[in-house]
Amino acid sequence: MTPAPFRPRLRALGTADATFEAVLGADELPRGTMRRVTRGDLDLLLVHTDKGVFATEDRCPHMSAPLSIGVLDGCIIQCPLHEGRFDLESGDPAQMPTTGGLDPDGVYHPTWSPAGRDPKVDPPGTKAEARRLTRVRRFRYYPVRIVDDQIEVAIPG
Ligand code: FES
Repeated sequence: MTPAPFRPRLRALGTADATFEAVLGADELPRGTMRRVTRGDLDLLLVHTDKGVFATEDRCPHMSAPLSIGVLDGCIIQCPLHEGRFDLESGDPAQMPTTGGLDPDGVYHPTWSPAGRDPKVDPPGTKAEARRLTRVRRFRYYPVRIVDDQIEVAIPG
């Protein structure tokens, strides 16, 4: 088990001088699985992929649903709420949520539907406007290290 690399500019705020804390035994996170661990008010998502172990927040980059109850396929996590798919390797969305909205670069995407289903279209109004203006973020990563068979994560104080 090794930590997975991530783009330096996607490092989570406050982690540059954070202290590493043991959060889970390495044997509790087999390859191909993910787990939520909570420290204070921070819900972390640990994911063991072929690229190594990632730690990010257990909040969908769209509307904050817990990704830990989503579906993991390689480095892609599908959110349980609006079927958005997110790539742990790049930090980017791999498929926009069904609600559409803005991608991380601010480009608008219309509502989307899985094959065989009609897209849900809100009547015009504040709710539709909120969906249109909601921007999907990129993942932010917490540095990971493995020490004495423990997964340690840099957690801001
Ligand atoms: S909250 Fe995850 S796709 Fe909307």
